[in-house]
Amino acid sequence: MAIQRRASVALKLLDNEVHHPRPSSWANTARNFADTARGVETMRSLPVHLTIEPSFGIDSGTDLSFDAFKVILDQIPELRSLELTRIGEALLNHDFFRMIEYAKARGIRVCVSDSATLLNADAARRLVVLAVDEIHVSLDGATKSTFERIRVGAKWEQVLESVDKLMASRNAMGRAHPDIFFIMVLLKDNLDEVPLLVELAAAMRVRHVRVHGPIDLGSGLATAPDNPLIAETIHCNAAFADARARAARHGIDICLPKTSPVRERCVRPWAQTYVLCDGTVLPCCLYGQKLRRVEITALTGHGNIFQTPFREIWNNENFRRIRRDLKEGTLRGLCEGCPVPRGMF
Ligand SMILES: C[S@@+](CC[C@H](N)C(=O)[O-])C[C@H]1O[C@@H](n2cnc3c(N)ncnc32)[C@H](O)[C@@H]1O
Ligand code: SF4
Repeated sequence: MAIQRRASVALKLLDNEVHHPRPSSWANTARNFADTARGVETMRSLPVHLTIEPSFGIDSGTDLSFDAFKVILDQIPELRSLELTRIGEALLNHDFFRMIEYAKARGIRVCVSDSATLLNADAARRLVVLAVDEIHVSLDGATKSTFERIRVGAKWEQVLESVDKLMASRNAMGRAHPDIFFIMVLLKDNLDEVPLLVELAAAMRVRHVRVHGPIDLGSGLATAPDNPLIAETIHCNAAFADARARAARHGIDICLPKTSPVRERCVRPWAQTYVLCDGTVLPCCLYGQKLRRVEITALTGHGNIFQTPFREIWNNENFRRIRRDLKEGTLRGLCEGCPVPRGMF
């Protein structure tokens, strides 16, 4: 699975290079692959992938401004791909489309991860016009009752309608993109619906399904007995086999988490980085997952991209220590308990 995922990232980067060939980016990408493969502590290259959180929660005071976005992006000139939103809700940010336009004009591949609860016809049209590459729609259920029980406040019909609007805009403009992904976080409550999610994707002409193991946001969700990957392994294996068979039948690309731990080196702090809307730079969006936001940003040592040049942060003591630990296979500090190096995300 890890090899599959890495191959898919490599293919996407390659695809991006074909469409936006920039010799300087090639050089950084090649150096980054080498730095990552060698597991160096001090990077010679900049990250190839960046996640930015444009908005956090419903308070517009927490939005990232376009100028601040530009400050972040301009410090990583050779970036290949950008994901908007990991934690917040991107469409709440009034400058969201301007940010996408800026990134696309620089030849960066853009992925948007979204609940689709605010995705109306106009937003769908703009995402297609701006040639966003991927949209990841959070669908934590494949039936109305399960979805609405898990995603409290979201409306099943409205979310599916938003996906239809995206498809309709794509078709009307004769575009193949954005590629739509259905993303499900695996819970005991939706485990039986993984095969159904594949059927739903097929019915809606969505070609990609991703199921993630739960991460522990301080609630114990990722540990037994709540994590179905651990507590209901046999049940998971049966549901996954069914889902895989259906995906093969429909020609759907599916990725599922492992049901027993493996040892994989996490390569995120080499290849990518994550910037919160207040400028805090973290190695990834799962880092410090058990802490509350105020606790994460209060920690010193991460670095803030609005106060310190990114190149300094990227090789600061914190980043070097995390790389050293991960290369040795040690999960400590804010990486402790992370399911990624166990293949269970
Ligand atoms: C936090 S959301 C942010 C985007 C958008 N606001 C949304 O609700 O989908 C990004 C992704 O993280 C997933 N996610 C949320 N909580 C999670 C958890 N405890 N474990 C694993 N993934 C989680 C979501 O399902 C979604 O696919
Ligand atoms: S181990 Fe987990 S928390 Fe740590 S950098 Fe990797 S993905 Fe992020």
